[in-house]
Amino acid sequence: MGAIQEEIQRRRTFAIISHPDAGKTTLTEKFLLFGGAIQTAGAVKNNKITKTAASDFMEIERQRGISVATSVMAFHYRDRLINLLDTPGHKDFAEDTYRTLTAVDSVILVVDCVKGVEAQTERLMEVCRMRSTPVIIFINKMDLEGQDPFDLLDELEEKLQIQVRPLSWPISGGHSFKGVYSLYEKELRLFNPDKTKIAKEVVSVADIADPDLDDLVTPEHADQLRNDVELIEGVYEPWDSAPYLEGHLAPVFFGSAVNNFGIQEMLDTFIDIAPDPRPRATDVREVLPTESGFTGFIFKIHANIDPRHRDRIAFMRICSGKFQRNTFYQHTRLDKKMKFANPATFLAQDKNVVDEAWPGDVVGLYDTGTFKIGDTLTEGEDMVFRGIPSFSPEIFKELVNKDPMKSKQLEKGIQQLTDEGVAQLFVRSLGNRKIVGTVGELQFEVIQYRLEHEYGAKCEFQAKSYYKACWIVSDNEAKLDEFKRIKGTDMVTDKDGNDVFLAPSKFLLDMEIANYPELEFHFTSEFKTAQAS
Ligand code: G4P
Repeated sequence: MGAIQEEIQRRRTFAIISHPDAGKTTLTEKFLLFGGAIQTAGAVKNNKITKTAASDFMEIERQRGISVATSVMAFHYRDRLINLLDTPGHKDFAEDTYRTLTAVDSVILVVDCVKGVEAQTERLMEVCRMRSTPVIIFINKMDLEGQDPFDLLDELEEKLQIQVRPLSWPISGGHSFKGVYSLYEKELRLFNPDKTKIAKEVVSVADIADPDLDDLVTPEHADQLRNDVELIEGVYEPWDSAPYLEGHLAPVFFGSAVNNFGIQEMLDTFIDIAPDPRPRATDVREVLPTESGFTGFIFKIHANIDPRHRDRIAFMRICSGKFQRNTFYQHTRLDKKMKFANPATFLAQDKNVVDEAWPGDVVGLYDTGTFKIGDTLTEGEDMVFRGIPSFSPEIFKELVNKDPMKSKQLEKGIQQLTDEGVAQLFVRSLGNRKIVGTVGELQFEVIQYRLEHEYGAKCEFQAKSYYKACWIVSDNEAKLDEFKRIKGTDMVTDKDGNDVFLAPSKFLLDMEIANYPELEFHFTSEFKTAQAS
């Protein structure tokens, strides 16, 4: 086997996603503890954005500085190299999470057993479905009185539109939680609440009819387990990893992240079944990770908030070949050769300069403003990786300049911030007015703060009551022109110059869709990929 194949098979690149508070940070931390990447609990938690004021957010960002070791956490577990990509916990930064999902090969979705499937869980799953990303589900907080596990499985299937298959099964829950039975390993792991130790008490139960089980748990709980397992085996097909890898079936585990319970089994199974770096689509062809030529794309840009150090880090996912330090690569959008003297990787909590990196790895590139989200680097081939769509924002506001002497700074600032993906910028075809679109209010505060502190520009935002941004295309140019003319001020262009209609309401949007059958209305910027996958 060649070096590249070996490196690829060793790697697992994934993200943990959840509705805020379901336990993503806790689970991340436990994984890092298992991987030996951190020694104490609490290290990850410090980076969590729980506050909703911009000043708190900025403070956290400043503390993180540019080291952002937690944006990517690489660690070794068994014989694998795991790249765990961090996603922001705050819902206002959901778009950042969606983009990070384009750089992973699989995800672990955390669901709170008390709350079940929540709004953010559904949206995240939608993004996974669009890209057929394999998903493992972890039902967390089994030490609390939660919903019935069968009801939870039904809810997952219904709301997340994915088939599920339990691989472990809880024995009771809440105060009487006894542990989980691994349907995969046929082992019983007894629960012993402890936030500091790892549950080690594993009992092999080859046959759950064995009366010894009654002593391990109680006779009632043992009977319940026997009935549940019989039901599960009657209802669900035997476990098969093929539909999981195709993104059609999600294995489900139960446990308690804060108590270190049920996590190691999941991590072990994850290592066994999760995909290694997968092929990726570009505008011209599919790129296989095993190709010798290097390719990669930028999925996240992190700016340094400290005005004395204005550099940024662009995070690149390597898709094929071997990336090497100080080697010229082609920035395909700018048609420009670039080399990188200090590319960084993020093993454990340290940032290290790397000489080489492989498919599945994420490398941080110092950037002075040459990168936008979605940019592609190759060894010369002209192509762009697809699948980094913009989604329709939820809040729209017009950017108003408050200091006419600083128009240039404002222009540059808003351009750079939107290149970083902080928000989406739409420019009105009439009058060059700028509409900023975001998922949450917090981003407007952040933009205002950063424009002032980093660019010396003052701005204000005027609320616009748009319902959705729709990307519009048509083969019928005359009709498209007519629509653009009639819609006037509601027509804008996005960062790539695409036509976007800002629909004032659902009613008006439905009406336009009916009135203009010649036009296609899309709610993400990359509809071709979305439809094909
Ligand atoms: P998030 O990143 O998804 O937003 O969630 P996070 O891990 O921060 O967890 C949210 C809260 O849920 C935390 O409590 C955490 O301790 C708790 N939690 C996580 N796993 C479990 C579990 O298995 N059982 C129970 N009972 N609670 C769990 P907090 O009060 O917000 O923070 P903390 O002060 O406890 O750290």
